[in-house]
Amino acid sequence: MESIWSRTVEIPERECLKEDIRVDAVVIGAGMSGLLTAFLLEESGLKTVVLEAGRIAGGQTKNTTAKITSQHGMIYKKLTENFGEKRAALYGQAHEAAIGELERLIKDNHINCHFSRLPGYLYSQKDRKALEEEAWAAEKLGLGASFTEETGLSFETVGAVRFENQAQFHPLEFIKAISGGLSIYEHTRVRKVRRNKVYTDKGRVTADHIIFACHYPIVNVPGFYFLRQHQEKSCVIAWDNVKPLPGIYYSIDKEGLSLRSSGNILLTGGGGFRTGEKAEGEIYTSIRKEAERFFPEGREITHWSAQDCMPHDGMAFIGQYSIFKPGWHVATGFQKWGMTSSMLSAMLIRDEIWEIENPYVLLFSPQRFHPAVSAGPFFQDAAQSMKGLAKGIVLLGKKEGKHRRCTHMGCALNWNEEEEIWECPCHGSCFDKEGKLLTEPSKKDLKE
Ligand code: FES
Repeated sequence: MESIWSRTVEIPERECLKEDIRVDAVVIGAGMSGLLTAFLLEESGLKTVVLEAGRIAGGQTKNTTAKITSQHGMIYKKLTENFGEKRAALYGQAHEAAIGELERLIKDNHINCHFSRLPGYLYSQKDRKALEEEAWAAEKLGLGASFTEETGLSFETVGAVRFENQAQFHPLEFIKAISGGLSIYEHTRVRKVRRNKVYTDKGRVTADHIIFACHYPIVNVPGFYFLRQHQEKSCVIAWDNVKPLPGIYYSIDKEGLSLRSSGNILLTGGGGFRTGEKAEGEIYTSIRKEAERFFPEGREITHWSAQDCMPHDGMAFIGQYSIFKPGWHVATGFQKWGMTSSMLSAMLIRDEIWEIENPYVLLFSPQRFHPAVSAGPFFQDAAQSMKGLAKGIVLLGKKEGKHRRCTHMGCALNWNEEEEIWECPCHGSCFDKEGKLLTEPSKKDLKE
């Protein structure tokens, strides 16, 4: 279950926090988003430290397919309908700016991480009309998009939306390089945050600015992020011996594959289901079947899953954590597009702290409110959480055995046979078979 990135790069281990300290800014989470934020803050002159409960890039960052793109599925037609052309265009421009900034960092710091520019394709084997409409919407917004029948794939499609100048890289080679000069404390779990203080299991950090970049925010109130997004999992299988593809690919079909190459290794991704709700075995079987059909020369080498936060209105939350917490900042809800969203959040949070004007602030503001778009997903999520909580209440007082309750808000956990972990269907916390916390929003192991 190890990604090809983790197999090929080892990041040196850091010490845990040993004493109480004071800094300008503290970042919670040493994934792509936290490290990029810390890097830009240090670059801007702020003394910054990063706190990480496990290892650097040990969460979702090591499991990404590392596509760097503003092509986020079928979104531009939908964004235009929901929010108007101006905001839909800003969304695309913001992520294009993030691609450019990542490239700048790589060039300025001479980072060898196999970064390359290449086209992004949104393709289908069934629905040409939907692709044409999406291409038209994106083109109208000035995003360098067009409809094409030439995909560079070896199998038939009905066409694709082509975005020019997208990119890919090796995420851990990049992380290893940018984390080198940062102050990072590993194996240091944050227990609580009060005013300008972060309390960990190893010591206290006082800072003017606290940045929650830990995938899912760990403070429930204020902010209420647990009511504004849920978590979904998707699966990846890597195959050796496949000729490199000329682009990065994302299918709009139900069983379609997301594709990218890394040399002769092909990554095939699929699925997308609420954490704790499906047997991953089924998803791997479906990906395997499709991949073997299209790339019979491939030899399977490994597989893994990734987990993403899905906000109700389809846009990340980046900015002030809550109006009641002026020095707190948050970056979450990246959906499946963590590379550009991480870079974008680092830029936005740096500018927020330094009060630099940024055209994308309002679009991603956690204080935004879009009831017409968010109401449906909100009620669906609320119903799921009530179901999980009700099951959790039934388990109260029962012997553990095959049943466990989540340490976040008490929902009943589901056992994931494939990965041998406990998963929470309410907000997505996961625990290993010994009960050790793997993913937030919970802050505690099962036995604490
Ligand atoms: Fe919220 Fe489990 S993650 S109850």
